[in-house]
Amino acid sequence: MWDSDVNRAVLDAADPAPGETLVDIGAGFGPAVVRAAKRGVHAIAVDPTPSMRRVLNLRRLVGRARDEIEVLDGAAESLPLADSSVDAVITVNTMHHWSDPSAAVAEIARVTRPGGRVVLVDELFDDPTHPRFDAEGGYQHHHHHEFIDIDPPDLAARLAAAGFTDTVGDHRRLGGAPVKYVSGRRGDV
Ligand SMILES: C[S@@+](CC[C@H](N)C(=O)[O-])C[C@H]1O[C@@H](n2cnc3c(N)ncnc32)[C@H](O)[C@@H]1O
Repeated sequence: MWDSDVNRAVLDAADPAPGETLVDIGAGFGPAVVRAAKRGVHAIAVDPTPSMRRVLNLRRLVGRARDEIEVLDGAAESLPLADSSVDAVITVNTMHHWSDPSAAVAEIARVTRPGGRVVLVDELFDDPTHPRFDAEGGYQHHHHHEFIDIDPPDLAARLAAAGFTDTVGDHRRLGGAPVKYVSGRRGDV
């Protein structure tokens, strides 16, 4: 919640440079945005849950890189950002919450600048090889009806149709955990 190897690995994969703008969709308590801001990246946290935004705002205020962090109300399907305004889009453990993956892809395509990178990851907590399987796997198993089943190749194809190149959608290990992984680079608009 506060920090995670998977968030670090997703940030490394998106690789925003100092001075670039990153949006973390469903940032939660902000493990990736805090890390990005410390690297001099302008980090925008979007989250639909007021309690998450409250905690991250408090965390922002006590942190050194507070000026680099923005916390906004919004969701994957409705990003409160201007067209072609971000260099990197990431999300960690929110895709299974998305109500409308088509709308989410359209929004991600709208806000990403040409050349911008997208890295979308959901950890597989119900995989017995996940280090937190005992703590989280049972939860997802018993509450499965609340989650949608994102198919990485399908989401990658949707990104390609929306104008992304070098798209990837697969299952892999990242930051020591099994994950669903989707990435791409925005082509010219
Ligand atoms: C399991 S937490 C992950 C938080 C953070 N990304 C992390 O890795 O620690 C899931 C987050 O997704 C947010 N969320 C729920 N529905 C969403 C949606 N449709 N779009 C974006 N975020 C959503 C929740 O408010 C919550 O903060």
